[in-house]
Amino acid sequence: MVRIIWQNRILSLILFIVLIIFFSCQSDKKLLNNPSSQKPETEFVNNLMERMTLEEKIGQLNLYTAGGDVTGPTMNGNYIAKVKAGRVGAVFNALSVSFNKELQRMAVEETRLGIPLLFGYDVIHGYRTIFPIPLAESCSWNLELMEKTAALAAEEAASAGINWTFSPMLDISRDPRWGRVAEGSGEDPFLCSMIARTRVKGYQGEDPESPQTILACVKHFAAYGAPVAGRDYATVDMSERMFRDVYLPPYQAAIEAGASTVMTAFNEFDGVPATANSYLLDSILRKEWGFDGFVVTDFNSIKELNNHGFSENDEMAAILSLNAGVDMDMQSDIYAANLMNLVKSNRIEEKKIDEAVRRILIMKYRLGLFRDPYLYLDEEREKATIYSNKILNHALASALESIVLLRNENYGGGKILPLSKGIKNLAIIGPMGKNKLDMLGCWHAAGDERKVTNLFEGIQEQVSQLNILYSLGCDFEGEDISGFSHAVKTAQQADVVILAMGENDAQNGEAASRSQIGFPGVQSRLIAEIRKTGKPTVLLVMAGRPIILNDEEQQIPAIINTWHLGTQGGRAIAQVLFGDYNPSGKLTMTIPRNEGQIPVFYSQKNTGRPYNPKDRFTTKYLDIPNEPLFPFGFGLSYTQFDYSSLQLSDSIISPQEELVVKVMVRNSGKISGEEVVQLYVRDLVGSVTRPIKELKGFRKILLEPGEIRWVSFTLKSDDLRFYNREMKFVAEPGAFMVYAGTNSAECLSAKFNLIP
Ligand code: GLC
Repeated sequence: MVRIIWQNRILSLILFIVLIIFFSCQSDKKLLNNPSSQKPETEFVNNLMERMTLEEKIGQLNLYTAGGDVTGPTMNGNYIAKVKAGRVGAVFNALSVSFNKELQRMAVEETRLGIPLLFGYDVIHGYRTIFPIPLAESCSWNLELMEKTAALAAEEAASAGINWTFSPMLDISRDPRWGRVAEGSGEDPFLCSMIARTRVKGYQGEDPESPQTILACVKHFAAYGAPVAGRDYATVDMSERMFRDVYLPPYQAAIEAGASTVMTAFNEFDGVPATANSYLLDSILRKEWGFDGFVVTDFNSIKELNNHGFSENDEMAAILSLNAGVDMDMQSDIYAANLMNLVKSNRIEEKKIDEAVRRILIMKYRLGLFRDPYLYLDEEREKATIYSNKILNHALASALESIVLLRNENYGGGKILPLSKGIKNLAIIGPMGKNKLDMLGCWHAAGDERKVTNLFEGIQEQVSQLNILYSLGCDFEGEDISGFSHAVKTAQQADVVILAMGENDAQNGEAASRSQIGFPGVQSRLIAEIRKTGKPTVLLVMAGRPIILNDEEQQIPAIINTWHLGTQGGRAIAQVLFGDYNPSGKLTMTIPRNEGQIPVFYSQKNTGRPYNPKDRFTTKYLDIPNEPLFPFGFGLSYTQFDYSSLQLSDSIISPQEELVVKVMVRNSGKISGEEVVQLYVRDLVGSVTRPIKELKGFRKILLEPGEIRWVSFTLKSDDLRFYNREMKFVAEPGAFMVYAGTNSAECLSAKFNLIP
């Protein structure tokens, strides 16, 4: 009897549980179908899309240039008519509130549904106030500074009606022949990933509806920085392992930081152009990383699938791109011209278009544009923001920390740098001496050269009693040496000579690869003539890429790599020259000894015959050493930092434990200075070969004269992960070396073991 009672009780309990599950599913379904439970953005966008015609949906997938800047090979004369017809989702290269307000008015007030436009622009290192080129600023190793730069650039651009920047550019590159290294953050995936997060946070802030933040755009997805022979737009071909270990991490970091959009690269990856590559755009970006923003192509790159030989006509190009996951067509007009017919002929599914439209409309919703389409279009805010002192002051701070001191040897009884403010006559010679436009560097957006403080003005301002002599000497290009004699005479009258040499803003950046990357034109010949005067000389390398110095240039006792520093460049260089700022920059890209070394980078593999200059059968050249001219992480100071006693908390760690690495750093000089202490690791044995060093940490510290500090880092087994033989991202037990030092070539070292 008792058994029967218990059986009944169990049965009724089971029935009760089943009923709970059943009714909860019902309510979930109700919830799902009940719009009020959906996120407001989803509800709003679904509702809007239900009212949109197919033609209006396709209209949202088009991005056209307004021609305010020329950033690609085609223009679009009739984009305004398309805006009025509701056939445009976004416009780029449209500058200023007044101009953009009229375009927005057309979109909102003259179209059937009044869907607002996005306004995009290449705010790569500033909008009007131009900061150092990204490669320069990465040499600051100051993440807080770089985040503030992105935030201020966003604030200034947003005040002018821009709400979307085609930045950060996160293409790792180890080939300085490629002109676009100027826009990146160097050769290292760890550092570039940290910078990626920083810049996305800076641009997007915490509140997408704030009229001081803008959408970020991760580009160029993916691996655009590894074109064969360093030639822009050329083929990219690498192993999946190299891709995952080196080129992919910065994009992933940016997506994890919440980047709202992604731009496809011009290049192919593994034989498939990025603009139609579902492995990149769907498998990795959407499925592995969970990216929920939208994908825009680079300029005209859907059309260029035909050039790639990946599509035989525009219709095919449209099908391949849409099905791969491209949401918005920059400037090619292929979507606008073909999608309607392709849907009607059942060659693409309308739901693919709906997916793309939804992603774009949700971004517009998140920006607050449906609430207020004129949110970013306030003339008063524009006037109050552009070139504000707050932004200009930060541009100076960024420029100062971007400068890298490469040499400061004794000359005539003492170091030339910092210059004494007591000198009477100073000569500035070279094409960057009084140059304003090129100080802005490539991709200088709406920067106004008239606002630039050039080198001459910067020094004049810094040392008012100085008699400054000037001679152009030569241009950036061409063979004209007629200016040499005046330059030599000018040098002969001076106590110190500043050689202001480098590249103009068109000799790097997009479509600006160079096969030889010394000083362009006859600058090296001018340097040689000036050297004959025997005057104390400081060489300023003012370019957008690592410049190879010839043998004579390498011997110049004082060499400063200033890059292109932007609006405040002249002021920053003057402060460094005269010691009002002690340079702290460290190279984030190796400077080769010559082009034959390229690609040359610190994180090399050991090979089976590691380099030994004394052993013939080892990996080396007959004519030069393997070491580059200046290694990754290199940068001098006007003071001296000494490293001693690298200590580990243990020599063995388990996967659950942390290793604390401490290194003692002393400022043994007479002035305070900032030092970037770098931490590297080597996995001595792996299921695949591992690099001889990988950056795993850094600290930028300020030390007073004589100050000693223990600088500590924490390593976990997760920091040791890589793609193993089975392409699993894991850390493998075994022996490791840890290095800490002032650059990738000068480190203290110690050994530890990771146990299973
Ligand atoms: C250019 C560049 C890309 C830029 C775009 C829009 O071709 O490759 O970086 O964002 O066009 O100007």
